[in-house]
Amino acid sequence: MAIEELEAYRGRALDALSAVSDPASLEAWYRAHLAPSGEANTWKRSIGQQPKDERKAFGQAINEVGAALADAYAARQAAVAQAELQRRLVQEAVDVTLPARARRAGGLHPSVIALRQIADVFCQMGFTVFESPHVETDYYNFEAANMPPHHPARDMQDTFFTTDGQVLRTHTTSGQVRAMRCLGPGPIRVILPGLCYRNEDVTTRSEMQFHQVEGLLVGPTVRMSDLKGILMAYARAMFGPDQDVRLRGSYFPFTEPSVEVDIRCTLCGGDGCRVCKYTGWLEIGGAGQVHPVVLGHGGYDPAKNRGIAFGLGIERMLMLRHGIDDIRHFFRNDLRFLANFR
Ligand code: DAH
Repeated sequence: MAIEELEAYRGRALDALSAVSDPASLEAWYRAHLAPSGEANTWKRSIGQQPKDERKAFGQAINEVGAALADAYAARQAAVAQAELQRRLVQEAVDVTLPARARRAGGLHPSVIALRQIADVFCQMGFTVFESPHVETDYYNFEAANMPPHHPARDMQDTFFTTDGQVLRTHTTSGQVRAMRCLGPGPIRVILPGLCYRNEDVTTRSEMQFHQVEGLLVGPTVRMSDLKGILMAYARAMFGPDQDVRLRGSYFPFTEPSVEVDIRCTLCGGDGCRVCKYTGWLEIGGAGQVHPVVLGHGGYDPAKNRGIAFGLGIERMLMLRHGIDDIRHFFRNDLRFLANFR
């Protein structure tokens, strides 16, 4: 009688097991049947209630059922694991035929690209690059550039002051005397590229920050006529091989004589148009022969040395080259603008 019940139980347990198809119900089945408190084990407690001569056979039968269930469980466990793996393979499948997602790579800022091009042009002419501080002393920014306190030319450049009495350099001319002191007293030929800062209203034509490239040559044989050749090479590298340069008399405290550097109008080619205000020429920077006072600050004897210098606006150059009508584009970080220069 008991044996029959046991057999009926085996059938029920195996039926239940064959309906199991996921890890959670497999676990539940195990707890219901094979775990220490599971039904397969509770049978053992009923051995004592059997007639003495049947106990042995009944005990064996229980062990047999237990072993059969354990085998069936192991097989089911393997099958469920395999099915689970299949399910995950399908669910987590990667379609390798899909096109790759384009990665947006960063790029250099147009002003930086231009600065590097310019450095290349001047390095081919034997210049080296000299870096000087952005936060500058009044001395190097103004006084060494022949603008002592109360010099009216200081008002030409509205200045940002730091709380400890220094200035944000208003032009790269601030590095001239540093370069002379650092690299002199022999002949030098350097460019000084970088950001400059002015406390100005931001308009389409002026920004609070902009890039310049300063140039400086000092030595016993340096002459004003060298200036034109150097600037011509720059203009032709930036604006095309047919560009022309014109030097027009002007005033800067740190040069004497001083000139403005013009190129032939990039729009009308010199015929005269609205962009060049019908002059045929566009201004790209200032230049001149280094003032003896500045040479003196740099440790050079003005009686034995001459210098020539120039300062070129980088955003100004790019605006003329690409027909950009608003300098503020350069500092807005709008990718629609910046990505054009990659
Ligand atoms: N520092 C001048 C400016 O920012 C530009 C300049 C003019 C630089 C004449 C020079 C120079 O070296 O010789 O407006």
